[in-house]
Amino acid sequence: MIKDIKKVLLTEEEILNRVKELAAEISKDYNEKDLLVVGILKGSVLFASDVIKNITIPCQIDFMAVSSYGNSSETSGIVRILKDLDHSIEGKDILIVEDIIDSGVTLDYLLKYLKARKANSIEIITLLTKPARRKVDINVKYCGFEVPDEFLVGYGLDFAEKYRNLPYIGILKEEVYKN
Ligand code: IMP
Ligand code: MG
Repeated sequence: MIKDIKKVLLTEEEILNRVKELAAEISKDYNEKDLLVVGILKGSVLFASDVIKNITIPCQIDFMAVSSYGNSSETSGIVRILKDLDHSIEGKDILIVEDIIDSGVTLDYLLKYLKARKANSIEIITLLTKPARRKVDINVKYCGFEVPDEFLVGYGLDFAEKYRNLPYIGILKEEVYKN
């Protein structure tokens, strides 16, 4: 796997330090609230678990699975819900956990989909954002890092389901995905 990585963009330590800062903010902001953390499968799994571990107030967790990419590195614009939430979100304070916001199409769709369910609030935390590629405006409450317009893998992020288990975020060599 490592031979396919052009450069390590964020080390394991840099990521964890930022995660701890974000989790501290969340713990303060959601004190006395009915927090439900919703991880978006599969990309956010490593980030979501590190965030949850560092939240110091009571919280529930749930997951949704969505698909928008197929095996390509470009968004198709089509979002499919592969797994919905297990329980009602009525009255709860929802924090959606994403790995990366690129065009914003996936989250835009998801937010509209969840809005009908009468949550008390719905906010977003994303590890990474690529502002240069945004097509729809998304209101992000917590963001780990702004990243350049490169194809990234590791710490949950994949290319064709590979590289998710790398402990850092790396830039994938172009020859790996441009064939
Ligand atoms: P969006 O709908 O274009 O914002 O796409 C969001 C989703 O695309 C993310 O949750 C990732 O699954 C995927 N994605 C976007 N950029 C990258 C990347 O650089 N590496 C891996 N996956 C990415
Ligand atoms: Mg994803």
